[in-house]
Amino acid sequence: MAGGVIFDGAKEGKDYPGKLTAYVFLSCLLAAAGGLIFGYDIGISGGVTSMPMFLEKFFPSVYRQQMENSGTNQYCKFNSTKLTMFTSSLYLAALIASVVASTVTRKLGRKMSMFFGGLLFCVGAIINAAAQNVAMLIIGRILLGFGIGFANQSVPVFLSEMAPYKHRGALNMMFQLTITIGILIANLLNYRFAKIEHYGWRLSLGGAVVPALIILVGALILPETPNSLIERGKLEEAKKMLRKIRGVDNVETELQDLIAASEASKKVKHPWRSLLKKQYRPPLIFSIAIPMFQQLTGINVIMFYAPVLFKTIGFGSNASLMSAVITGGVNVIATLVSIYGVDKWGRRSLFLEGGVQMLIFQILVTIFIGWKFGVTGNATDLPQWYALLVVAFICIYVAGFAWSWGPLGWLVPSEIFPLEVRSAAQSINVSVNMIFTFAIAQAFLPMLCAMKFGLFIFFAFFVVVMTIFIYILLPETKNVPIEEMVIVWKNHKFWSNFIPEDVIPPELKVEMVEGGNVSNDKSLS
Ligand code: BGC
Repeated sequence: MAGGVIFDGAKEGKDYPGKLTAYVFLSCLLAAAGGLIFGYDIGISGGVTSMPMFLEKFFPSVYRQQMENSGTNQYCKFNSTKLTMFTSSLYLAALIASVVASTVTRKLGRKMSMFFGGLLFCVGAIINAAAQNVAMLIIGRILLGFGIGFANQSVPVFLSEMAPYKHRGALNMMFQLTITIGILIANLLNYRFAKIEHYGWRLSLGGAVVPALIILVGALILPETPNSLIERGKLEEAKKMLRKIRGVDNVETELQDLIAASEASKKVKHPWRSLLKKQYRPPLIFSIAIPMFQQLTGINVIMFYAPVLFKTIGFGSNASLMSAVITGGVNVIATLVSIYGVDKWGRRSLFLEGGVQMLIFQILVTIFIGWKFGVTGNATDLPQWYALLVVAFICIYVAGFAWSWGPLGWLVPSEIFPLEVRSAAQSINVSVNMIFTFAIAQAFLPMLCAMKFGLFIFFAFFVVVMTIFIYILLPETKNVPIEEMVIVWKNHKFWSNFIPEDVIPPELKVEMVEGGNVSNDKSLS
């Protein structure tokens, strides 16, 4: 996953002594590197696949199609199975690796997983930068994907365990922020390196080595988390480590809770089977639907292929890459808006506002592209203001995503499960996200060729469905402590049918009031 496994412990109602120490600060930097490598990859491939030298070397038929402006339909000029494999192979590899990584993370510790992640990623970046043929390119991408699978599985777990619980929520969104920064850096570098005619693309692909080295070195110098030490039976070491990272001696309460949590999770022999219990049905449905819908917003059409898309609608190489930089910048800024507002305005209002905004601007983009380009994709004399308007519409659409489905797509699934099944549920969230990211990366270019400008309407349809889904089915989870989440389901008209009375702890029953709200300041506004 990207973001996911950071649990929002900030609301779990306990107060452990401790402060934000240098170790914890370093772990934040690591989290940043984890998000960066993921974002860098999302952002780099589109720009590289629009560089003429790269296409000429590896995908000569696409290059020729692109050069002959007449004849081929504009919408189809990038359509090549090999070219899409270049982008999408990474996500399939990441999906496979994240499954393997969950065992490595548990048995060998978080550091080991991060180390493997950094190593695989580094090797992948070097092979890509040195590539002589398509096979080398794809092997490189697969290794990068393995690296991302390992890093995305272990870094957020590491982070949530190192962070003082009061900072976990913010760190969750920080991960998404660094993904967007990674995308922007990639867009900027593509813009710069595209000017270096013969080997610019090598620099773009090789640049991934930098964030990879940060993870690699980080994994070597950082300590193991107390949770991982306890999980592997090293209690004394865990206690020492906890003192060190919290910067205080009095860590007994937290230590006992960590031991208890570890015991409890060992008792759940079959978390996957437990997840199928009726009481977990509501959050389970969200942990599948949210990542699926996140990808069906169509965001990665823009993130992966913005330069290709802009070229398709008639921009020159430079203008295409510049436009990708602009959408990348909007993506970062709008994510900051969400970090600021998520605990004030709530998840539902962000989801709903973002959905409506994306819908309106997807329709406008369709109308504007369709009007000038029709089904042949050939536009004569596209006025500059027209092109700028299309970029502006795409930016507003991206902003709508970046303050709603972007960060919330990772936050909400991570805060709705009780501890005993949380990690299994997170794997589902991550896997569904990767499967749909892969599918969209694979399907975009053939879809653009087949559906022409109607492609945006395809995604707009899903935006309508997901917005209605959220409106009717998602209860507000803002300011609700994780262990009280069960009340949220119980108070919901539809989901209450899934929650038997006996799973609600007696102390929580007093908090419920008639008509369905939590009765104190944690109320669902
Ligand atoms: C999504 C990615 C997407 C990125 C864009 C993330 O939340 O999982 O697929 O590319 O946001 O900022």
